[in-house]
This record gives sequence, C-alpha cells and structure tokens, in this order.
Amino acid sequence: MIDKIEAIRKEVDGAKAENASQVEEFRLKYLSKKGILSALMEEFRNVPSEQKRELGQKLNQLKVFVTEKYNSLKEGAGSGNKLDIASIDLTRTATPMPVGSRHPISIVRNDIIKIFSDMGFSVAEGPEIEDDWHVFSSLNFPADHPARDMQDTFFITRNPIEVLLRTHTSSVQTRTMEQNEPPIRIVCPGRVYRNEAISARAHCFFHQIEGLYIDKNVSFADLRQVLLNFARQMFGPETKIRLRPSYFPFTEPSAEMDISCDICGGKGCAFCKETGWVEILGCGMVDPNVLKACGIDPEIYSGYAFGLGIERITNLKYKVKDLRMFSENDVRFLAEFESAR
Ligand code: DAH
Repeated sequence: MIDKIEAIRKEVDGAKAENASQVEEFRLKYLSKKGILSALMEEFRNVPSEQKRELGQKLNQLKVFVTEKYNSLKEGAGSGNKLDIASIDLTRTATPMPVGSRHPISIVRNDIIKIFSDMGFSVAEGPEIEDDWHVFSSLNFPADHPARDMQDTFFITRNPIEVLLRTHTSSVQTRTMEQNEPPIRIVCPGRVYRNEAISARAHCFFHQIEGLYIDKNVSFADLRQVLLNFARQMFGPETKIRLRPSYFPFTEPSAEMDISCDICGGKGCAFCKETGWVEILGCGMVDPNVLKACGIDPEIYSGYAFGLGIERITNLKYKVKDLRMFSENDVRFLAEFESAR
C-alpha cells in the first residue's frame, strides 16, 4: 500500500489542468466519493493494526497534498486561462465617467477675482468664526446698531467675549489693515452668515467679496473708475454704472452702485422693476475712524472699500431666480453653468 500511495503522489504531482472542466476531472478522479482517495480509505480499514499508524500518517499526508494540488489547479485555471484573455475586447471604449462641474458660485467668484487681480488686487482671507471687534466695533458700528442684533447675527458665545459667525467679509479689511502697512490693495472672498429665514430671496449663508485699497491720495474718482472697469468686464463693455448716496458705518461718504439692466438695455422691464437699473454693490471711502482703529494714520492715508454679494452677481449673470438652488446641490442645476460659458 505504501507503494501505491507513493505512485498516486507522483501522478498527482505531475497533473495539469488547462481549464475548469479539467480541474473538475481531477477532483472527480481523486477527491470525490468514488475517487481514488476514498478507495484507499476503504483499503486502509483492512490493513493489520500494527501497520495502521504508519499508513494512516502517509494517507493523511497524501490527502493534504492532493487537496492543495486541487486548489492550485483551480486558481491557475481561473486566472491564467488563455480563453479568458481572448474573450476580453481590449479595443472597446471605456465606460464614460461623469466628470463634475464647478459650482456657479465658484465660477463667478473666480471671474471676479480675475478682474480685480488684473487691476493689481491680491486675495486676502479671514476666519468665518469671528469676534465683535473685527465684525462690528473696529468698523465703526455704534454699540446699539441693529446689525449686531440677535435677529441678524449668529452668536456662538456672548459672555465673557462675543464669538460670532461673520455677517460680512468687511472683517477681513480690519484684519488686513491691522497686520499690514499701506499700500494695501486686496479683495476678500468668503462665506458670511445671517440669521434669516430661508426663502427664494434670502438665505442664512451666502458669499461676498470685499475690496479695499489704502494708500496716499486715494480718491472717490479712483473708486468709481475701478468699479466701472469691473462692471464692464463682468457684464459687457456697454454697461453703465450709477452711484447713489447711501450709508454704511465704515465708509464716509458711502454709495450703492447700480448697473444698467442688461435685459432691457436700460429701457425698463420687469427684471429691473421698470427702472432700467439693478443694484450690485455697496462702497465708499473708508471712514477715518476705521483707519484709526486699525493703527493707520488718516492724516497720511486714505482709501476706498466696496462689498458685493456673489449670489447677486451670479443671479444677474445667469438669471437664477431661487437662492436655495445654490445650496441644494442638484447636479442637473450645477452642470448647466460650466457648459454655459
Ligand atoms: N459689508 C456690507 C454688507 O455686508 C457691504 C459693503 C458696503 C462693504 C460698503 C463695503 C462697503 O466695504 O464700503 O452689506
């Protein structure tokens, strides 16, 4: 019987299988109920008991050997099989992967930054979680100004210090002026938060870009020319601008800027409420109190600032009617913008 076991071992060692059916043949021949190993087990019952120990060991070793061989044949037939390679069509085009598109707010933010950086402005950023000083006090907000109210501002803590979500990017003005000497020429893009009910026309967060230029002899005429250039690059070379007197605590004088309605060309339509103009931003000459608060001497330096809402500009450019679309992440909406360019 020892000879028989050895002969089977050799046979198994040399066995080959090129495909699944040959592997199955191997299994049937050696490992099935009617296979060679089962027959050997039968024979083993009848061997004299003094040989059982040695033969039993050899039989077990053979069983392990055959099982391992079977497993390796199975693996080989599965992977290296020539038939499988032949059945793969390497010339077939790959399954198209849908590519994401840039968010409309990012597209417009980048466009705005490009226009201002071509005019010499660099980009500055600041934190969204702010303190009262940078959002209000340094910007000349009176202590009882309604913008500080719980209605508008999301406070994180009120005592002992006020920590809040910034309500505008004007806070980055202050941070930059505190840390840098004039000349300063920056635009500050970022997200801002206000405690407002969400509707088609208002949201509790949106995006702004703040602009600031501080140097010697900066005038309102400089501001007007920079904003005119911006409006024409953003909305087309025929665009007209109009500056209306307004009030902001951090600028004096202050103005709001309208552009001629690009739907009716200024004649008046439903979009511009028959006025021919649409408002796009707030601006003005930086109040001397703000310069002082940031350690800049208003006797030597002057400057202008402006702030615009990115959603507002995007709405004007792409006629999006519902502000909520910007944060709902509906890919059908988002995909429209990159291709519209
Ligand atoms: N911070 C103002 C707002 O959130 C926008 C603004 C107006 C910024 C006038 C300015 C400015 O820098 O001069 O409504």
